[in-house]
This record gives sequence, C-alpha cells and structure tokens, in this order.
Amino acid sequence: MGPVEIKKGVYWVGALDWNIRDFHGYSTPKGTTYNAYLIIDEKITLFDTVKKPFKNDLIESISKIIDPRRIDYLVVNHVEMDHSGSVPEIVELVGPQKVVCSAMGKKALVDHYGLQNWPYHIVETGQTLKLGKKTVSFLETRMLHWPDSMMSYIAEDRLLLSSDGFGQHWATSQRFDDEVDASELFDHAAKYYANILMLFSPVVQKVIAKIDELGLDVDMIAPDHGLIWRRDPAGIIKAYQRWSRQECGAKALVIYDTMWQATERMASAIAEGLKEGGLDFKLLNLKLNHRSDIMTEVLDSRALVLGSATINNGMMPAMADLLSYMKGLRPAGKVGAAFGSYGWSGEAVKLLSEAMREMNITLIGEGVRVRYSPKREDLDKCVELGRQVARAALEAVGPPAKAATKTSGGGKCAQ
Ligand code: FEO
Repeated sequence: MGPVEIKKGVYWVGALDWNIRDFHGYSTPKGTTYNAYLIIDEKITLFDTVKKPFKNDLIESISKIIDPRRIDYLVVNHVEMDHSGSVPEIVELVGPQKVVCSAMGKKALVDHYGLQNWPYHIVETGQTLKLGKKTVSFLETRMLHWPDSMMSYIAEDRLLLSSDGFGQHWATSQRFDDEVDASELFDHAAKYYANILMLFSPVVQKVIAKIDELGLDVDMIAPDHGLIWRRDPAGIIKAYQRWSRQECGAKALVIYDTMWQATERMASAIAEGLKEGGLDFKLLNLKLNHRSDIMTEVLDSRALVLGSATINNGMMPAMADLLSYMKGLRPAGKVGAAFGSYGWSGEAVKLLSEAMREMNITLIGEGVRVRYSPKREDLDKCVELGRQVARAALEAVGPPAKAATKTSGGGKCAQ
C-alpha cells in the first residue's frame, strides 16, 4: 500500500507482510508489518527501512512523496534484519549525508553488512538532530530488545517512533489503533510482549521511567510493527507497565503432552481440582497449541501445571521445546507443579520439576507420577494437586476478578 500521513509532514512508508507465519519461532497467523517513517522537512529523513524482500514497497511508497534520492538522513533505530535488511541498498540508492544510529548500532551495521565507510552520525540519549522545523531527540533503549536499539522522539509532533517497543505482529490495511478492534489489538500487543519483550521486563520499566524523566510529551506512538497508537498512547504504556511487573492473573494453565492419553486424563483431573479450588484454568495440549500462544497465556497466569508422559527416559519433545523457549523468556512470580504417566522409568516428572526450579517457579507438592493408566486413586491425587495449586495461587493474587472488558489500556490482565 502507499504512504499514509500520520502527522503533518510525517509519513508511514512501510510494508505489509501478509504471508509470514513464523517470526523466529513466534507464530504470526495474521502476518506482520515492517514500519518505516519519512519526515519531509529541510532535511528529509527516513526512519528505519524494511525487511529486504520488501525493499521495493518502501521505495515505491517514498517515491509517491519525493524522489528517494532527495533523502538527506537515514536514522537506523534498530539493526535487526526485519528493519535494516534494506539499509545497504537504500544507502546505495540515496547516498545520505548522515546514517544516524547509536554506537552499538554502528557496530551492528558494520558487523552485519561490513560497510565502514558510511557517513555514520552516532547519537546517544538526550542528543538532538535539527531537521528544520522539526527536531529529533534520541533515546537509547539498550536491550529493548537489542544492544543497538533506540527510539526517536519528535517534540513538535509529540511523536515517539518506538522501534520494536509497543509493536504487534498483525498485518492490516488500517494504520491506526482507532481503526481496528481494540480487543484484538491488545491481544496482539500482549502476544508480542510475551514472546519478544518479557525477558527484558526490567528494561521496559527503566525505559518508561526514562520517557517520564525526560518529560517526553507523547500523543502518538509509532512502532516498527503493526498499528500506530494515536487514540490513547498512554493505554499501551500502562499495559507495558503492568506486563513488565508480571503481577497479574488468578489463572492457571495445565500444559501437557500425552502419549496414550493417560497424562491427558491426569490433566483433566488436575483441572477439576483447580476449579474446585476456585481458580480459573486453561487446558493446553501441546499438540494443538503453539509455543508462542502458550507464552501469551503465561503472561497473565499465576500457576503453571506441566505434564508429560515419559519417552526414552525424558519428556515429550514438544514439552522440551516449550521449556527451552519459556526459560529464555524468563516468566516471573509463578507457582507450578508437575505430573505425568510412564511405563517403566518415569523421569519426566522429575525433569519437569527441575526445569521449573531453574525458572524460579515455586513448586507445589512433589508432583504426581502414574504408571501406565491412572486409577481412581491416582486421579484423586491429581484433583488434590489441582486444589493445592489453586490455594497457593490464590494466596498470592486473590480470587479471580469478574470478566474484564478489553478496551484501550485494557487487554490481557485488565482486571
Ligand atoms: Fe522487529 Fe528486533 O526487530
């Protein structure tokens, strides 16, 4: 699609990727966007580019406004390939006077593309760049989510170009938050947070505090993925504050993989105990639920009850996949328990418990192991484990709230 003017003289010139379904392990059933922004001022400035296969979309979009060779400055807020993949060709085409980036950004650009001789202009937090009527201020956001990451703020427009922060993987023909369903938008934003930013939650808090400290007056947040926040930018900032505290949710997940349905029957019995104990729950079969959707559920769940049959002295492969992914994302403040069936050796429950300990998940009970098929007394133990987990979770967070309305500033964990 062509350019969209988001503020006077500021244009979205990005690309829509309707077809991507896997973003480095994160499922993207509705695609994504690679957002780039163009400011027309005395110095014409492009902020970020797009993933390499979409370079022509970017150039065509810019060309509907100006000849791309008139661009004076290229600001690289982030060097990951989905934003910088077209940088070498854009630099070649445009011949910018400045390639503006953080010190770590320069290092990353050189490491990626091997080009030392670009007209690098290194900036750090608080530095400004005059474009004419508009002035850009820079805010380094190291490890939100790469060492090179930074945001750009245009005071005259109260506009924050937030790079990967506040993004969503969602391809739409609309460009603004007020043009789409708020509930779906916040679901995408929560999934993005859970799968990309959760492990950087302390950094998220520092960046939001820095935005406050610098007194940045923001009425629009334009991220590098998804919709632009203009109706209530404070709403997504509040959601990030809440998600970064990882504090919410009187909710349990029973996540399991099963071989011959014995572990699945145990999962159902545990769910019965959770419900008896007054805790809301979801049953998530790993054969049917993608790891990245599970992590979105983890974001607002207090309790994780993990189950796996034992296979070849270990756990089921899908559970190993999930645990590797989850460990990297560092969920905090959870209680948990393990269960599973086995034929002769039965290591899975021990391995699940060890993995949860490594993630600082507080274990409830010893876990329940069942040989072959669960009998009534085994299922009773599972029900009791569910009750115990419910008690522990509710002690931490209180009873489930009434259903929340997902509106601007709401979304997951809105209760
Ligand atoms: Fe959207 Fe870190 O790249």
